[in-house]
Amino acid sequence: MGNSGKRVIVTGGASGIGRATVALLREQGASVVNVDLRDPGDDPSFLQADVADGPSVAAMVDRAVELLGGLDAVVNVAGIQRSGAIADLDEDDWDDQLRVNVRSCFLTSKHAVPHLRSAGGGAIVTTASAAGVKGFPGMSAYGASKGAVIAFTRTLAVELAADNIRANSVCPGWVDTPFNDPAISFRGGNDAHLEDIKHSVALGRQASPGELASWNAFLISDEASYMTGQAVSIDGGITA
Ligand SMILES: NC(=O)c1ccc[n+]([C@@H]2O[C@H](COP(=O)([O-])OP(=O)(O)OC[C@H]3O[C@@H](n4cnc5c(N)ncnc54)[C@H](O)[C@@H]3O)[C@@H](O)[C@H]2O)c1
Repeated sequence: MGNSGKRVIVTGGASGIGRATVALLREQGASVVNVDLRDPGDDPSFLQADVADGPSVAAMVDRAVELLGGLDAVVNVAGIQRSGAIADLDEDDWDDQLRVNVRSCFLTSKHAVPHLRSAGGGAIVTTASAAGVKGFPGMSAYGASKGAVIAFTRTLAVELAADNIRANSVCPGWVDTPFNDPAISFRGGNDAHLEDIKHSVALGRQASPGELASWNAFLISDEASYMTGQAVSIDGGITA
């Protein structure tokens, strides 16, 4: 896979899909700066940043470019999810999900694009969701945020194509990480959640984080050189 020597920022790398993406890219020979709010405790190339905060992202990108000696790709994985029926959903929960899930992609792109241009081009991957494509009860704010991520990414793709910068979204279905705890309690607990997955997901199971990491790695690789502006569903068939 064509990621050897690539210089990459991955956000949300302390857990789940982001953590698996950092590990896979390193296996493939990329240099990766792992960015998260929480220190994973075992990564010398970790930078702490709130990816929804402008000054914090500006400083993080500067430092990452210094450490990496340039920048070829950004993989945006950091995100949050709070479930709630529409009449019960707090305004703060709405704002937080829009702020973290959408603003983060805007801010990393805003600060990274000048460096990608200096490198002669590059790739941006954003993490949307099946919830950005299809309705899931209790996920109005989350779904709105992920729909916005898809539209944002498509716009980046057409705006930045002339700079040889590609942009694509990955839309995961249910992935087995701590991320879904709020959704699982809204859905009546883990047994009910897993039972529903047997019927609603064509493959009848959740994904492992590695099954998403492989797509993040593919989308920044040279093998994906003709692919831009797409939202790729990696969801076991839940939207099929
Ligand atoms: N797990 C799923 O079923 C699923 C499904 C569809 C989409 N996704 C998306 O995949 C992405 C990763 O999910 P995951 O399952 O690996 O979740 P996770 O909770 O295991 O990891 C998310 C990471 O993002 C970090 N993060 C959150 N807010 C941040 C902020 N403001 N600044 C910096 N870091 C922050 C967290 O600390 C955490 O380490 C998210 O964007 C999520 O919306 C997940």
